[in-house]
Parts: sequence; structure tokens; C-alpha cells
Amino acid sequence: MKGIVFHLFQASISKHHGEDAWDDILEEAGVEGAYTSLGTYPDDELYALVNAASRRVDRPPAEVVRWFAMEAADVFAERFPAFFAPHTTVRTFLLALNDIIHPEVKKLYPEAETPSFTFETAPDGRLVMHYHSHRQLCAFGEGLILGSAKHFGERATVEQPTCVHRGDDHCVLVVGIERAGS
Ligand code: HEM
Repeated sequence: MKGIVFHLFQASISKHHGEDAWDDILEEAGVEGAYTSLGTYPDDELYALVNAASRRVDRPPAEVVRWFAMEAADVFAERFPAFFAPHTTVRTFLLALNDIIHPEVKKLYPEAETPSFTFETAPDGRLVMHYHSHRQLCAFGEGLILGSAKHFGERATVEQPTCVHRGDDHCVLVVGIERAGS
């Protein structure tokens, strides 16, 4: 996993729980924590940090990942406005993930291994996203969807009828989108 993801996690923890909390989490996870944005680090290190944070805040790991991804979406919107600018709704933004956004991310962060999605429209109009990755970070996707929607003045809901963490062969994220305040 790229160092930028570790930086984002550190920033979220430090902002909401203080620098000391991050130091404690590093210690408990047994990792050194010297990450550079462009470096690549073992996924297991990220999972160890998430598990340590989960114990500290007494919330399940998936909830920690979802929360941190919502925070990351705010940072992405600030740091990469060009990915958001062509869109007026999170729906088309999500549809651009495979062909535009993650390919651009790979140019900026060589060795990044981003997931791919296959898309469908549910009978009720919601966007169905099949998540394909060797990682099991569906909660990261969920948080990024929820967090990104805000930047289009929208509110998203995400349901996961199937999930690898419940023994299914892949995760499906069903995304409902409405204008915020409506
Ligand atoms: C401006 C928008 C975005 C940027 C800049 C961005 C960037 C990144 C980066 C840097 C990684 C780490 C890859 C690695 O370390 O190998 C990543 C992973 C990931 N991204 Fe995005 N991303 C964006 C939007 C999204 C959105 C909206 C989703 C929602 C589904 C998403 C889903 C994921 C997931 C689930 C991963 C974890 C890696 C995996 O599952 O294999 N991303 N993204």
C-alpha cells in the first residue's frame, strides 16, 4: 500500500484523537511509522495499525476504515480537485474510477495497486458496484463513496448485500444517491 494511505490515516487519527494517540497506535502495532508518500509498504502494516486503532477507540476495524476513508475523501477533494471538477454528481465520478481516476493515481503513485469495479444499475436506479481487488478493503471504498458524495452536495447510502468478510466471493456495494437536504 502506498505511503499516502498511511499518511492519510495518521492525519485522521492525529486530528481527531491527538498526536499521542498516533504514537500509541504505532507502538501497539509494532511498526516504525516512517512513511514517505511515494514509498510502498506492506498491507499488513496498515491492517496492524487499523487493528490497534480499533482497540483504542473500541470500534470494529471495518468501522475505523470506513471513517478514515470518509476523512480521506475530503483530503482527495482538496488535493486532487481536477478529479472532481468534470462532475456534478458522485454517480458519474464513481463511473470514472476505472478509466480515469485510478489510472491517473497510478501515474502519480507508481506501483499503486488500485481496485477495479464493474457497474450495473439496480431496478430501483441505485448504482451497483462490484468490487474487485486482492485486498479486502470494501470499507475503504464505502467511506470514499460516502465522503465524496458530500463534495457534490449529495448524500450517499451504501449497502453491501454480499461481502468477502461474510464469506461471499466478492463484495457488492449498492449506492443510493440523493441531493443533500432533500
Ligand atoms: C480523488 C479520488 C481518488 C483518489 C485520489 C484515489 C486514490 C487511491 C490511492 C492512492 C489508493 C492506494 C493504492 C495503493 O496504495 O496501492 C487507492 C486505493 C483504493 N481506492 Fe481510490 N482513490 C480515489 C477515489 C476512490 C473512490 C471514490 C473509491 C470508491 C469506491 C475508491 C476506492 C479505493 C479502494 C477500495 C482502494 C483500496 C485498495 C484496494 O482495494 O485494492 N477510490 N485509491
